[in-house]
Order: sequence, then C-alpha cells, then structure tokens
Amino acid sequence: MDIKNLDHSYIAQTYGRYDLAITDGEPSGFLGDGREYIDFGSGIAVNTFGASEAGWVEAVCAQAKKLSHTSNYFYTEPQSRLAETLCTRTGLKRVFFSNSGAEANECAIKAARKYSHDKYGDGRATILTLENSFHGRTITTLSATGQTVFHTDFMPFTPGFAHIRANDIAALEGALTADVCAVMMEPVQGEGGVLPLEAGYLAAVRKLCDERDILLILDEVQTGNGRTGTLYAFEQFGILPDILSTAKGLAGGLPLGATLFGEKVENTLGKSKHGSTFGGNPICCAAANYVLSRLDDAFLGEVKAKAAYFHEKLAAMPGVAAVSGMGLMIGITLKEGDAHDVALKCLEKGLIVLTAKDKVRLLPPLNIGYDDIDRGLAILAEVVA
Ligand SMILES: Cc1ncc(COP(=O)(O)O)c(C=O)c1O
Repeated sequence: MDIKNLDHSYIAQTYGRYDLAITDGEPSGFLGDGREYIDFGSGIAVNTFGASEAGWVEAVCAQAKKLSHTSNYFYTEPQSRLAETLCTRTGLKRVFFSNSGAEANECAIKAARKYSHDKYGDGRATILTLENSFHGRTITTLSATGQTVFHTDFMPFTPGFAHIRANDIAALEGALTADVCAVMMEPVQGEGGVLPLEAGYLAAVRKLCDERDILLILDEVQTGNGRTGTLYAFEQFGILPDILSTAKGLAGGLPLGATLFGEKVENTLGKSKHGSTFGGNPICCAAANYVLSRLDDAFLGEVKAKAAYFHEKLAAMPGVAAVSGMGLMIGITLKEGDAHDVALKCLEKGLIVLTAKDKVRLLPPLNIGYDDIDRGLAILAEVVA
C-alpha cells in the first residue's frame, strides 16, 4: 500500500489534500512523487528558512543529542534564553510557551479574563474579536473566530465572545460595554483573505483600550517571526499590545507556541494557573533560538525588499486584479477563475501556492532566493494568464 492509500484508510479525512506525497525538503522547496517543487507556501508560514536549511538542522540535531525533553518542573537553557530574546526584542515582559497557535491564543484568553477578574470581579469577561478573523480550531478559539461557518456542528461553544467589523472604530466603541475585558485581532487577517488592518485603526484601538483598561491582544500566529518584514507586525503599526500570541514560523518547522505578556499582565498567570507538557520543549526552543538569531535587521530588510519585488511583479501580471498583504504574506485577487484551480494548475507545473478565501495566497520561505522567486512567478504568470 502506498502513502496515499494508507492515509485514505487510516487517517481521519479532515484535510482536502492535494494529490502529492512530500518526502524531502530541498533548498528550493520540496521533493515529492519523484519531482521537485518550488515552495511559495512554507507549510503555511512555518518553514521560515525552508524545510531543511543546514543551520536549522544543525541547531535541532545538536539539541536532540544534548537533551530532547524534560518536564516543566525543571529549568532548561534553550527555553530561558528564548524567553529573554523574545522579551528583549518586543518590549513585552514574560512568556508562556505552548505548542501551537490555538494554544497560544487559549493562554492569551485565560490571562485576559483572569486579569479582569482579579481586578473587577465577575461579569467582565467578554472578548471582542473581528468579523472574518481566524484564531484556531479548539472550541474556545473557534468561538473567538469571527466567521459563522466555523460556528456549526460542535455546539455548545464557549460563551463570552462578540465580533465587530474591522477598521470601524465607531463599531468598537459601541461594542465596549461594561462586560468587555479585552479585544483580540490579527494585524493582517491571514485565513480571512490576507487583509491588513488600517494603521490608524489599530492606533485608535490601542487608545480606546488604554482609556478603559481593556486589554489589547494581538494574534501574531501568522504575521509573527519576520513574516511581514519586522520581527512582529505590531512594530509597523506603532503600538505595543498587552498580550501577543505567536506560533507557526517561530521554531521554523517544529511545534512551538508563545504567549507574551506586557507589564499589566506579566504576573497574572501565577503558579498552577496554566501549564503544558510539551510547551517550551528544548528542541523546539533551540530551533526558535536559531530562527531568531537569523532574523536581524539586515535579514528583515531583505524580507521587505523581496516583498516589494513580489508586489511589483504580481501587479504587472496579466490575470491579476489586485495584490494585498504585508511583507511576504501576499494575497492575489484574480481577474477571473478560481483560486483553488490556480493552485492545482501551479502544482501540476511544479509550484506550491496556497489559497485564502477567493485569493491565491503566497507565504514563501523568508530566505527564498530571487532565482526561485522568478521561476515560481513565471509558472504563476503562465497559469493565471
Ligand atoms: C492568525 C492565526 N491564529 C491562530 C491560528 C491557529 O494556529 P494553529 O493551527 O497552530 O493552532 C492560525 C492558523 O492558521 C492563524 O492563522
């Protein structure tokens, strides 16, 4: 039996997989079904430097040989060092480590509710999120997700979430009733269609939150770790969140989530209030230490330059109606045709692209070379023409 038949026989069929079994990471992307593929997807913004970059492999193997795992009842060097780097580079104060984006958001939600309960008591636990948002697949993060398509089949969902229109400060002001403790948003809605928030909106949200002691949670699960051209996207909006969640590209190909706490909430989750068996695993943290060591100003400048190059080439491409996004998080509106069809046709020609709603979505590895960008864009141009 081959890989695909085993999958069909034994794996819960929750994914609409493409007809490709990937076996190896390659400098330009992946090897699968006996062929090379250029990668414009990064395993959905995870493979920060591709799937098998030499420095990352070395960092992971060295840590695996030294110490693979111990419980969080003990201190480990990779975890402590990673927390220091994250705090120093963001201006936030403390970190809780988990294994995924949904878990990082669960932790953010728990911290926000506890902060409010400690200070104001019962009845102030509602969290406002944006329509069209995506925050994860657990019952609580599905409740937070502002898309009704996710609010079926699994009732009852966690109460205490309400959804407001993005970029509408009057809508937020109207929704800030006495029961609200926090607002939570993605700086760029990723799954929702690669839609950046307006700069002025996020600054106005910050101001309103400050005036009313409402916590601002930024979900940087997808926008974080260099993806938008700064270490975290909030830097480009000129604000600091109270809580920041991230995951995906943080460890560059291993599962690691992080929830960062600002001054107000740095001590909110005390002893035994939260935990995770695997969270902050030494190998995942060593991988993240390597990732962050590479994401210096010069590298992030290169990300911005490559993003500008993508935008310029895409905007001039026949068949492309509009290009959205920030950094190497790119959404393409097609003049005609279906984004999923485009993804299928690109795959037939040896290029991996993603989709988000009705857009073609590109999330290439941050270290992608201009030759691979050109080769990939040539395939995409041929398909969308
Ligand atoms: C903004 C955002 N938040 C949360 C998640 C959930 O992350 P995970 O799949 O690691 O749980 C995602 C995943 O796409 C995401 O894009």
